[in-house]
Amino acid sequence: MKHLLSLESLTAEEILRILELAAEMKVMRGRHVEHPLRYQCWALIFSKSSTRTRVSFEVGIRELGGDVIFLAADDIQLGRGEPIKDTARVLGRMCHGAVIRTYAQSDVEDFAKFGGIPTINALTDEEHPCQILADLQTIREKLGTHEGKVVTFVGDGACNVPVSWIWAAARLGFTLRIAAPAAFQPSAELIARAGGDIVVTEDLKAAASGADVLYTDVWVSMGKENEAAYRLAQLGAYHIDSALVSLAKPGALVMHCLPAYRGKEITDEVFEAHAPTIFDQAENRLHAQKAVLSLVARRG
Ligand code: CP
Ligand code: NVA
Repeated sequence: MKHLLSLESLTAEEILRILELAAEMKVMRGRHVEHPLRYQCWALIFSKSSTRTRVSFEVGIRELGGDVIFLAADDIQLGRGEPIKDTARVLGRMCHGAVIRTYAQSDVEDFAKFGGIPTINALTDEEHPCQILADLQTIREKLGTHEGKVVTFVGDGACNVPVSWIWAAARLGFTLRIAAPAAFQPSAELIARAGGDIVVTEDLKAAASGADVLYTDVWVSMGKENEAAYRLAQLGAYHIDSALVSLAKPGALVMHCLPAYRGKEITDEVFEAHAPTIFDQAENRLHAQKAVLSLVARRG
């Protein structure tokens, strides 16, 4: 595995290898005998805000023996219009890998192509693969396996997080239900291309019924702030509250990628009741990404 550009581009075997290694990384934290990023310097290039992704990559790269430079896109010439392919060709000669959070998926793909160094998607408008890898790790820790499970996503079903869930379900074969109003559903073309056991519906209660996992994300993703009022009005019914949780399987997990907006996509009561799971998810970003880093890092 040279890059992590999307979950779509991974095989089931590659996803499972990452998850196995992520579990090892968690157990071995603070006692790593291998430092695959030793003598390496990685660039983090971020065009959008971040707490979890930035900190988990900065800590993870250092724990694997590497060094890191954080580059806010607006602080470098990229923010003044220098093309991504030129930025990539410069950083590719100086850095050993890049972690990129941006808008267009094509920018991450172009960076990988022109930079020639391992490149990791730290969130684009299309996918958030690192998040879903950590979520899968969390599900496997708490439910033993992802196999045969029903994951129900509630909210903006067309944004990056549910799209990465679609590819995870398609590759690993578990059931994914997406409950969203028609204007916020993934395209039929995407669902057909993914295959697998994926249901997209406006029927929130049916989608939650008997689910092993209820999952939500913000209604207003980064870059969509000018649609905030419209989104809040359209998505208002698609939230997780205790009545919805009571429809899921007893002991079902409630998950959130964070940041959470209480009173919008999730009630404060449900969030706090499931905070241990939600913050395990956040912690697992570190372990899952260390697994990815060690797999893509060039040695020597
Ligand atoms: N979930 C997630 O990616 O969080 P940040 O935006 O804080 O990185
Ligand atoms: N869909 C959200 C995820 C945040 C981690 C966004 O893109 O803002």
